[in-house]
Amino acid sequence: MPRITVTVDGVTYEEEVEPRLLLVHLLRDRLGRTGTPIGCDTSNCGACTVMLDGRSAKSCSVLAVQADGSDVVTVEGLAQGNEWHPMQKAFHTEHALQCGYCTPGMIMAAIDLLRDDPDPSEEAVRRGLEGNLCRCTGYCTIVRAVRRGAAEMSKAREPQEVPAP
Ligand code: FES
Ligand code: FES
Repeated sequence: MPRITVTVDGVTYEEEVEPRLLLVHLLRDRLGRTGTPIGCDTSNCGACTVMLDGRSAKSCSVLAVQADGSDVVTVEGLAQGNEWHPMQKAFHTEHALQCGYCTPGMIMAAIDLLRDDPDPSEEAVRRGLEGNLCRCTGYCTIVRAVRRGAAEMSKAREPQEVPAP
């Protein structure tokens, strides 16, 4: 069986994998990252979205062997210690979930969207997240959360004022 090396949420793993094993199954069943759910078997829902080498990817449509040598970040790797990522906070603040099944994928896709458009309009958010489906919320709170998360992330990037001596 092929042997792969993959870094997930900052931890490097060496695994022997069947060539047909999907990345999402490696993450969930072998590496315990059950925060990444499976919502369909057609690559449609986006629930399984993770970051693969810095860009969002549906982990149900990537083979584990294709991730050999890659850096994967799941929703479980976003927080810094006890501090949630600003996008996680924004989803919480805006109540942008009901059952929560789509939430990990939405958050990962949202973070990726902001890489290309740090201050997206409502329309840009809707367009950017069209690969992620939610059957509960009607999307309004999700769109608000992504825009709030964007604002928080851009605030965090602003240079901090240095107090006068
Ligand atoms: S589980 Fe991957 S897109 Fe639905
Ligand atoms: S909150 Fe239930 S699918 Fe989105």
